[in-house]
Amino acid sequence: MTEPLLHVDGLSIAFPSAKGMSQVVNDITFTVGREIVALVGESGSGKSMTGRAIMGLLPANARVAARRLGFEGRDLLTLSSKEWNRLRGNKMGLILQDPKYSLNPAHRIGRQVEETLLLHANLSSAERRDKALDMLDKVGLSDPKRICSSYPATLSGGMGQRVMIAAMLANRPKLLIADEPTSALDKELQDQILTLLRKLSEEFGMGLLLISHDLQQVSRYADRVIVMRRGVIEEEMASVDLASARSGYTRALWAARPSAESYQTRLPVYGGDE
Ligand SMILES: Nc1ncnc2c1ncn2[C@@H]1O[C@H](COP(=O)(O)OP(=O)(O)O)[C@@H](O)[C@H]1O
Ligand SMILES: [Mg+2]
Repeated sequence: MTEPLLHVDGLSIAFPSAKGMSQVVNDITFTVGREIVALVGESGSGKSMTGRAIMGLLPANARVAARRLGFEGRDLLTLSSKEWNRLRGNKMGLILQDPKYSLNPAHRIGRQVEETLLLHANLSSAERRDKALDMLDKVGLSDPKRICSSYPATLSGGMGQRVMIAAMLANRPKLLIADEPTSALDKELQDQILTLLRKLSEEFGMGLLLISHDLQQVSRYADRVIVMRRGVIEEEMASVDLASARSGYTRALWAARPSAESYQTRLPVYGGDE
């Protein structure tokens, strides 16, 4: 049997603290194929650190260990920093909550979408421009030419997130990690962005790891869900089976149905930061 696209086997992450090492992810194992997998759990459960470990983007003081971090048949743990750089933005992409922190305010959008192509593909500048325009069109931005010559500050949050998706998908990565990609947006925009991510994942045959604290919401877009709690995997199941989840924790997350009015406020958490 061939290995799935991503095979996280026995991943542990710890940080040094005053009381010794503090374990934030503890021996988790899961796979992601060409499918949408939601990684859910309350704030502080270790979701973002898991995503960053897969991207090789953990803070410098983090200690990471795993039996294997398999990606397309290679073990990510053995990569040099040069090899990581080649992989990121090319075979793997990361989208974070707020495009404000990912887009450079001093550069026009077109340049930033083209930058990923500059790093990884052998294209002429005209070809890069065409590809950037094509991607901006694919993420549903009307008038891509105007967007290309705009600066990030002129974009709304939803448009900014569409630009990020265009930039991340320009090289047709095999795996996209989206960490709370819609948490900064209002309800209607959240559904639009998640619908777009699902559509493009299917169109490009891409694996998507969708990180979220909102189980209700992401389960509508994911094939499978992995529920994390305090650094371990509590439960893993197909989204369609969520109604019969065994774990009380999963059921509590499932029942935390935010109403339209409360969508902008945070769900109650057991502890940790965000
Ligand atoms: N740089 C760091 N140093 C020490 N602890 C950290 C650091 N970054 C995150 N943590 C801790 O790791 C735990 C998991 O964090 P995170 O993966 O961001 O959770 P989630 O994304 O599920 O909300 C949290 O308890 C957090 O406080
Ligand atoms: Mg997080």
